[in-house]
Amino acid sequence: GEENSDEAYRPNFHFTPEKNWMNDPNGMFYLDGTYHLYFQYYPDDNVWGPMHWGHATSKDMITWEEQEIALFPDEKGYIFSGSAVVDKDNASGFGEDGKTPVVAIFTYHEPKGAEKGEKDYQSQAIAYSLDKGMTWTKYKGNPVLPNPGIENFRDPKVTWDKEHKQWLMALATTEKTLFYTSQDLKEWKKVSEFGQGNGAHDGVWECPDFFPMQVEGTGETKWVLIQSLNPGGYNGGSGTQYFVGDFDGTTFTPEENMTNLEEKHDYWIDFGRDNYAGVTWANVPEEDGRKLFLGWMSNWLYAQEVPTETWRSAMTIARELKLIKEDGQYLVTSQPVEELQKFRSEPVRKSTLSASKDLKLIDTSAIDLSKAEVKFSISGLEEDGNYHFTLSNEQGEKFVVNYDHSEQKFSMDRSKAGANDFSDKFSGTPSTAPRITASNSMEVHMLLDKTSMELFIDNGKTVITEIFFSEQPWDTFSVGSEEKDFMVDSFEAYELNF
Ligand code: FRU
Repeated sequence: GEENSDEAYRPNFHFTPEKNWMNDPNGMFYLDGTYHLYFQYYPDDNVWGPMHWGHATSKDMITWEEQEIALFPDEKGYIFSGSAVVDKDNASGFGEDGKTPVVAIFTYHEPKGAEKGEKDYQSQAIAYSLDKGMTWTKYKGNPVLPNPGIENFRDPKVTWDKEHKQWLMALATTEKTLFYTSQDLKEWKKVSEFGQGNGAHDGVWECPDFFPMQVEGTGETKWVLIQSLNPGGYNGGSGTQYFVGDFDGTTFTPEENMTNLEEKHDYWIDFGRDNYAGVTWANVPEEDGRKLFLGWMSNWLYAQEVPTETWRSAMTIARELKLIKEDGQYLVTSQPVEELQKFRSEPVRKSTLSASKDLKLIDTSAIDLSKAEVKFSISGLEEDGNYHFTLSNEQGEKFVVNYDHSEQKFSMDRSKAGANDFSDKFSGTPSTAPRITASNSMEVHMLLDKTSMELFIDNGKTVITEIFFSEQPWDTFSVGSEEKDFMVDSFEAYELNF
């Protein structure tokens, strides 16, 4: 029945709530061996509604256990997106009996004010947990950051700024990121703002994240501002851009080449249609040192209409972000976290192959393509060549990624990849993504789940995450080119078992 066909779409290894609606990841922090993921959640329906913070925990950021709802809406409003920090020195004073408080900072959204067209319906509030994130108490003095009369004033992301010894909050408003600082997480002072006229603005800025990163292979530190917006993403709808620059404790100054960035720039955490509102985990131990990221694997263009009824939406795979410098420009790359590797089965490897029109690389007799990791490189790309990676099945469904080497451009066509009549925004036109590297060989790393494909090209310089709803599982993965010969090298594929 209905239930069954629905469950056929349930991802094998991407987090979904058991029931009902989910959007943004919230309040992610690590403590004593456990990764916490909270999320925008409406427990009473499969579409957006009065927001709660749902909760899940994991030891590896891959397999998740859903927990009790962490925060419920109340007379001050819905609980919108936000973050959490581990307050080791009890700066907030919430600690008791030597217990370390975890402090969540979220947005209260007051729906009546919003409906009446008032501007000040969103404010920032805090809650604390003395049992490592399992149960929460809202602070009596909320809101800690009342609304100064600004519409769209939300999604506080707080981090401990070690360099300037302050709690630092990035907050989004329509066309800017606002920065606030605090010593106790209760009293906040605005120090600067960033973004007007810089970058993509064809929508509302939401869900920022702001943190220092060491440039790979150097001792240099730069600050990265992640700034989601909706609509106005690279392919329309929801998307997440970033800026790299310096921060002196009050003001963020982007790099020269990221100053006055145009709308259609190339600095996006993900170019695919389905990675939104992603942010990083707090309190990852210094000896680990990774920047760990996860996003909501959907898009506001159609998220409430996708053909699952029991639940709606999944999260992306957890990713490690890196900051690299290449040809004088800074780039943020992403790759799946290495924890995923422990779920790999025996590899299927192939020696170097020459490919032309259509080379079948995997079929289901070798690997279940609804839980698979595939890595290979292609080489001998020709200047005017067009190449494609294709997932298909006997029913004739297919998901095609095309690569035009002369334009250095990918395009993703999911119009024949299964159910798509639920929204004309889902697959009407192919999405596109730039290839950042100009080279005649390319590294491809792909994660496949039942309803998603995550592509990490050239070690994560171009990332493309897209969902689909094929009626049958893919049974074949092939690569090809209409008119060119090329090589497939270092092919390895793994079934992932959980
Ligand atoms: C982003 C967003 C946030 C907001 C939340 C509400 O997807 O619109 O700005 O806090 O979702 O659920």
